[in-house]
Amino acid sequence: MKNVILLGAPGAGKGTQAALICEEYGVPHISTGDILRRNIKEGTPLGIKAKEYIDAGALVPDEVVIGLVEDRLSQDDCKNGYVLDGFPRTIPQAEALDKVAKIDMAINIDVPFEMIVSRLGGRRVCKCGATYHVSTLGGETKCKACGDDLFIRDDDKPETVQNRLRVYQEQTQPLIDFYGAQGKVVDIAATGSIDEIFADVKKVLG
Ligand code: AP5
Ligand code: MG
Repeated sequence: MKNVILLGAPGAGKGTQAALICEEYGVPHISTGDILRRNIKEGTPLGIKAKEYIDAGALVPDEVVIGLVEDRLSQDDCKNGYVLDGFPRTIPQAEALDKVAKIDMAINIDVPFEMIVSRLGGRRVCKCGATYHVSTLGGETKCKACGDDLFIRDDDKPETVQNRLRVYQEQTQPLIDFYGAQGKVVDIAATGSIDEIFADVKKVLG
């Protein structure tokens, strides 16, 4: 399996597709958002620092997330490929990554902004990491995987979502050109169902 980055706006479906890829190909799913949220829950010094940025819909400082990812990529389970979800999201992060890793492909999950607002507005998540959308839950409020209560992520409030989208346009979208210049970008039109998108992703991963 390749070393893959998933690019895409907040709510595009990076986490959803990353989970499917990692299950299918048996590689680790490295989500900086998930790592930061775990630290917030555990009340670590990193979590306490990260919380104020995340709650505002801003990015956590580059040096913090770069260190996290460098540590994670040095672990043994990353030797046979991995999926990076939500990292890099600034040019300095991408430059730092290029120094420590060989990225094969950047899959750009491309969704119109209007659709993103409805994907995030209906997102429900579980402590165990599972993610759902109200449109497919049929009123169910418990996690299908572990039975725990589902909840709404703190940064999915409408005003925070607007800020996250602005930050994405200013700081993360330029990465499409950064990896495009390296000939690594594959665009996936991601307006279809989760399964349809995953079928396209599998075609490009081979
Ligand atoms: P992070 O956790 O990475 O959030 P994000 O990039 O905003 O992306 P999301 O997780 O919100 O969306 P997603 O694309 O994973 O979509 P999902 O699959 O859940 O980051 C959070 C924060 O942490 C940042 O704001 C920042 O503060 C900090 N941070 C993280 N990384 C950082 C970094 N590198 N540098 C600095 N700061 C960093 O899907 C969304 C919803 O849509 C779900 O309900 C899902 O069920 C549904 N859905 C998915 N696909 C479909 C489909 N095809 N059709 C219908 N519904 C769908
Ligand atoms: Mg995610």
